[in-house]
Amino acid sequence: MKTLRQSLALCLGLLTATPVWGQEATVTINAAQPGPILAPEIQGQFAEHLGRLIYEGIWVGEKSAIPNVRGYRKDVLEALKAIRVPLIRWPGGCFADEYHWRDGIGPRHKRPVGVNTNWGGVEENNAFGTHEFMEYAELVGAKTYVNGNIGTGSAREMADWVEYMTSPSNSTLAQLRRANGRDKPWTLDWFAIGNETWGCGGNMRPEYYTDQLRQIRTFIKPAPGQPTKIIASGGNSDDLKWTDVVMAGSANMIDAISLHHYALPSFGRATRGTWKDKGSATDFGESDWFALMVTATQMDDLLTRHSAVMDKHDPKKKVALIVDEWGNWFDPTPGTNPGFLEQQNTLRDAVTAAVNLNIFHKHAGRVRMANIAQMVNVLQALILTDGPKMLLTPTYHVFDMYKDFQGATQFPVTVAGPKYTYAERSLPAISASSARAKDGSILVALTNIDPNNTVTATVTLEGAAAATISGRILTAPAMNSHNSFGQADAVKPAAFTGARIQGGALSVTLPAKSVVVLTVR
Ligand code: AHR
Repeated sequence: MKTLRQSLALCLGLLTATPVWGQEATVTINAAQPGPILAPEIQGQFAEHLGRLIYEGIWVGEKSAIPNVRGYRKDVLEALKAIRVPLIRWPGGCFADEYHWRDGIGPRHKRPVGVNTNWGGVEENNAFGTHEFMEYAELVGAKTYVNGNIGTGSAREMADWVEYMTSPSNSTLAQLRRANGRDKPWTLDWFAIGNETWGCGGNMRPEYYTDQLRQIRTFIKPAPGQPTKIIASGGNSDDLKWTDVVMAGSANMIDAISLHHYALPSFGRATRGTWKDKGSATDFGESDWFALMVTATQMDDLLTRHSAVMDKHDPKKKVALIVDEWGNWFDPTPGTNPGFLEQQNTLRDAVTAAVNLNIFHKHAGRVRMANIAQMVNVLQALILTDGPKMLLTPTYHVFDMYKDFQGATQFPVTVAGPKYTYAERSLPAISASSARAKDGSILVALTNIDPNNTVTATVTLEGAAAATISGRILTAPAMNSHNSFGQADAVKPAAFTGARIQGGALSVTLPAKSVVVLTVR
C-alpha cells in the first residue's frame, strides 16, 4: 500500500514529471550475524604499462622538473597513500604477456627498448621495471601483485623472476638482485600465471590453458616464508565454461582465479551495442546513464554465477574469485592516442564505482580482491595528470569515502524499495552495503543511482544500536559533472546532513545520483 507521501508524489509526478518528495526505501542491516572480513584488496588498483599510466602518471624520473621522490611523482604518490591503496597489480594486462622481466633490471640507460604492441605501438624503454615497481609498492604501502608472462614467456622465465624477487639465498639470481641495488628480498603477495589467456594472452582454449597452468605452477616456488598466492587467468564476463574447466583441472594448485568485467554503455543499450561505439565519457544523456547502470550492475549476477561454478569444485571456498580488472570503458577522449585508453571521469563513474564496491562486499565470502582499471590516466582512473598538474576524479573520492571498509567485517544487507525506470526498463534505485569497521563503528554505504528522484531510506540496524551518526556525500548538479584541470574540485565529497536517528532506525535522505557513506556509533 502506498503512503500518503508516495501517493502525493505520484500525483505531482504525473503533473510535473519530477516527483517533489521522491520515494521510499527500506534497508535492513543484520548486525547480529556478521559475515566475512572484507579483504582490503577489494580496493586494489591495476597499473599497466599503457598510455600515460606508468610513464608520467607514476614515474617521471629523478631528473624531472615535476617534484618527485627518487623518480616517482610526489603528488600522485601522496594521493594514493591518502586512500590507503592496499594492492597494486603490475605490469599488465595484455602488456604482461609480452613483458620479459630481464629487460627491466640493471642500469636504466642500458635497458633494451621495445614496442608496446598492445597499446599505441609506442616505445617502451623499460625505465620502470621490477625494482621500480616493488619500491613503489613499498612507498605506497601496498601489497604486490605481479602478473607473469605465459603468452610469450616460459615456466623457466617465470620461475626465475619469482626467485629473483623472493630469494634470500646467495643464488646467482639473488646476487644479481643485490648487484642491482636490492639486498633483501621483496614481499611478493600475489603472482598470476598469464592474463586473459582466452584472448590477448594467447587465444587459448580453457583445456589447453589448464594444462599449461598445471605445468608452470609446479615450478613457481617463492622462497620459504613468502606469502605468495598463485592466481589462474580466469574467464571474461559470463564465460562460465572457462571457470568450470580451470577449476576442475587446477583448484588444488591455485589460490585464486580471476574474472574481468568491463561496463560499457553500449552493452546496456536496448539494442546491444559494440566495442566500436562504446559511448562518450562526458557527452551522454539519460539513456547512456541507464545503459551503463545496466552493465555495471551485471557484476552481481556474474559473481553469483561464477561463484556457483566454483562451489562445485571448491565448496570450502579456499580459492578466491578475484575481479582483477573492472570498471567503465568509454570511447577515448577525442584528440588522444586511441591506444592510450584515456577517458574523463564523471559523477556517473563515481556512482558505478560505489555500486560495484557494494557488490564486492556482498560477495566477500568468495571475492577477496578487485582491481579497478586503472589507477592513473587510463580507463576509469582515480587520478588524471597533465604534465605537472594532477586532479582527483569522482571515482577517487568514492575510494576515499570507502577506505574504512578495508578489513571491516561485513554485515548482510537487504534493500526493499523503489525502482529506477527508464524507457520501460528498471533497476533497483538503491544499492547498499554495511560492515563493522576495525574501530568498532558501523559503516553504511548507500547509493541512489536514479538521476531524477530523491529516495528516503529507513535503515534498520538489527542487533546494534545507533547513538551518533556522521557521514559524507558525493553528488553534483549534472550526470556528467566532472573535475577538469581548470576546475579540479567541481565534484568532491561534502559533509552529509541528510541522516538522523529516528525511533532506533536511521532516516536517510538520498538525493538523486548520490553516493553516501555513514559512520554510526
Ligand atoms: O585494461 C585494459 C586491458 O583490458 C587489459 O590490458 C586487458 O587485460 C583487458 O582486456
